[in-house]
Amino acid sequence: MSTYTEDNRKVTTRRLIEMKQRGEKISMLTAYDYSMASIIDQSGIDVILVGDSASNVMAGNITTLPMTLDQMIYHGKSVVRGVNRALVVVDMPFGTYQGNSKEALASAIRIMKETHADCIKLEGGSEVRESIERILCAGIPVMGHLGLTPQSINKFGTYAVRAREEAEAEKLIEDAHLLEELGCFALVLEKIPAELASRVAQELTIPIIGIGAGGGVDGQVLVMHDMLGINKNFSPRFLRRYADLNSVITEAVQQYIQDVKNKDFPNEQEQY
Ligand code: KIV
Repeated sequence: MSTYTEDNRKVTTRRLIEMKQRGEKISMLTAYDYSMASIIDQSGIDVILVGDSASNVMAGNITTLPMTLDQMIYHGKSVVRGVNRALVVVDMPFGTYQGNSKEALASAIRIMKETHADCIKLEGGSEVRESIERILCAGIPVMGHLGLTPQSINKFGTYAVRAREEAEAEKLIEDAHLLEELGCFALVLEKIPAELASRVAQELTIPIIGIGAGGGVDGQVLVMHDMLGINKNFSPRFLRRYADLNSVITEAVQQYIQDVKNKDFPNEQEQY
């Protein structure tokens, strides 16, 4: 399969809005390092998210909460070095933007200055309004994130589908409108009913990127390790696995071990 697009122009926040306007779906995946980011970028992905899911899939933590600003900057820098075309979004980690908008701005500025990414993403609606306003005032594009917001897992107490109840669904719709009015250029909606996500996508003019939010939104995002089948212990209903890299890697490593033990590697041509 070849690259989907032959348009090699850099993807910008403005181009994502144009994609929504002409009904072209937006593709987004996470990446945390140079090598994977460059493969994904050359494959033609529109948006690369340096997600704080790095906490789970790179560092082995149970939640995203331990991730620090320095760690996100390290991952962000590594990804940006591998990318020419995709829009690169860096997640603001837990504790760097909630409650203190001046600190939020300082954190966002560090991400932009040190990683050279295109924009940041943060979780929440009206609760983080001041932080979003301040970051936007500095000219930094903000992607919002509503629904299941993993940094609030201790409040939710479960990774189950959010906003099934009317009150939570109404709050989500209000927050989505607020984020658009404040000037966010796009929103991620995570693990909410497809009908609700589709309604938000219809009511808003900015692109809505879903994960576990059905097909009625403007684009899709998945965590790279999940969709490539590297991580086999996570199988929510919304996840489609496009490869079984866990088995591919295991077989390759086992073959290597066997070759070393059998003195088959290195052979005559593989030495000086
Ligand atoms: O951190 C992450 O990978 C995310 C996606 C699940 C959207 O925020």
